[in-house]
Formats: sequence, structure tokens, C-alpha cells
Amino acid sequence: MRGRSDIETVAVIGAGTMGNGIAQVAATAGYDVVMRDIEREFLDNGFEAIDDSLSRLAAKDDLEEDPGTIRDRITGTTALGDLAEADLVVEAAVEEMDVKRDIFADLDGIVDDDVVLATNTSTLSITTIASATDRPEMVVGLHFMNPVPVMRGVEVVVGEKTDPDVTEFAHWFAEDLGKETWESDDKPGFVTNRVLMPWINEGIRAYDEGVASKEDMDRGMKLGTNVPMGPLELADHIGLDICLDASRTLHEELGDRYKPAYLLKRKVDAGDLGKKTGQGFYEYE
Ligand code: NAI
Repeated sequence: MRGRSDIETVAVIGAGTMGNGIAQVAATAGYDVVMRDIEREFLDNGFEAIDDSLSRLAAKDDLEEDPGTIRDRITGTTALGDLAEADLVVEAAVEEMDVKRDIFADLDGIVDDDVVLATNTSTLSITTIASATDRPEMVVGLHFMNPVPVMRGVEVVVGEKTDPDVTEFAHWFAEDLGKETWESDDKPGFVTNRVLMPWINEGIRAYDEGVASKEDMDRGMKLGTNVPMGPLELADHIGLDICLDASRTLHEELGDRYKPAYLLKRKVDAGDLGKKTGQGFYEYE
């Protein structure tokens, strides 16, 4: 496996919510980053999000370097072949098993054998993703939280075949980006989503059944249990489509106690996906 001091270039696959955040924190930590998406437009959106976030952090005096210097460490590409020089890959493309397996199978032929291949999946099996490659021992879950530059935690997920050195490397890398880690076995939802998704769905169901207004549902959970966001505002923040996909995976794997709330499905069908579309349970500017 590539030595820690040899890690210079980090490839990030996907320039969406999570991918651009991971690219940003890796560049902030001093790594060169190649960010890959399938369309130039998605890369442009990703760079715009990075510029906004770096400007906000600079305004708060939270950066040790000039935002421009950090930004210049990140290049964008639509060609997977441009990741050949990567010393580490972090995949943060859409949460679809077929897409992720295709990406990992392609990576096998592009990056060197001693390069760790990490996935940011929030619910899919690391073992199943890893089996698309010839090097399942090099595949590990590196589950960043949203928004990546702000959230301190990263969940390291250990697949059936993950080499213990690769697991240790994943903890080290996340810590090198200034994060704190915990470890989960490769079981549906890992630690965080296994516990979070039923909480969100129950909040939606209780609201739908008229237990409380959406504001009181969120206020009650915040004031009553000391969490920073209630279930409905957190669902809007994550994206209702992401919550529905995660709930469906858990439902399929773990049974009826993970059934998605009806109102969650109806909102996603209506295209109201939360903050990112300006309308979820709440309306956003
Ligand atoms: P997103 O929809 O914002 O971004 C996904 C990006 O992947 C899009 O720009 C899309 O064009 C790109 N993409 C699709 N196929 C690709 C391919 N073959 N190669 C390169 N890029 C490709 O999704 P988001 O929210 O960033 O999620 C990404 C991953 O992170 C998913 O696995 C998700 O489960 C996970 N995640 C999401 C969190 C969240 O709160 N949104 C939190 C933690 C993990």
C-alpha cells in the first residue's frame, strides 16, 4: 500500500454536495485534488460551491491560507482517465449501486494497484462495491457528513475484505483533514443512518398524522433532546430524495421497521427535495 508520505494527489469522483466538499477539505489540507464529474456543468456548479464556501470561511478567519491558493490545488475533469496519477480515490457519485460498481470496475484499470479506493456511500454495501474490483482489500468506506467543511465526523466503514492497513489509513486520512472518526462494520446504514433514518421517518409520519405542526415537531426535538436540527429540517437539509433512497435501502435489508414515511415519498414525487430545490417541508430563499 502507498505510504502516507507519498499521498500527494487525491481524486474525488462526483462534484455534487459531498464531492465538492471533500475536494475542498482535501485541498485545504494541502493535497492536490482532481475532481471528476460526468458533465462540465456539474463541475462548474461544484467549483462555485467551493468558491462560496472558501469565501465564507475566509470572512470568518477560518482559513490558514488564501482561498485562491486552496482553490488552485483543485482541477476539474470529465475524463476518468485523468485520475491515473491519484494516490487515493474518494468516490462521491450518486447513491446507486450500479453506478458505483461501474466506477470502481473502471478505476481498477486506471489507478495503480496500491491506491486505496474509498467510497462515501451512506447506505450501500462496501463489500458489494468492492467486489466490482480486482482489489477488494483496497476498498473502504469513508463516509463524510454534510456539509463536509463544517461537520467534524467521518465514519470509516470496513468491508468484508478490507485490509486492516487500509482501514487504519482511512482513519489517518480523515484525521489529516482535521476530522474525527469512528468505525462501523459494513451493515446496512452503518452507525449513523441506521439510527438517523427511522428518527427522520418517524418525525415525518408524526407530522403527517397531525401530532404537531412541522415547526413544533422540530422545536420539540431540538429543545427536548438537545439536537441542533429537528427531523423535518434535517431531512430538508440532507435532501428528501437522498433520505428516501437511504430509507428504501434500509427497508429492503432490515424490514418493515425501516419503511419510508408516505409523505416523504409524496414530497419526492412532487419534486420538493428540500433546501436544494427551495421547497421541502419548509420553503427556502
Ligand atoms: P449529488 O447528487 O449532490 O452529487 C452526485 C454527483 O455525482 C452529481 O454531480 C453527478 O453528476 C455525479 N455523478 C454521477 N455519476 C457519476 C460518475 N459516473 N462519475 C462521476 N460523477 C458522477 O449527491 P451527494 O449528496 O453529493 O451524494 C454523493 C454520495 O455521498 C452518495 O453516495 C450519498 O449517499 C453520499 N452522502 C450524501 C450525504 C448528503 O447529505 N447528501 C451525506 C453523506 C454521504
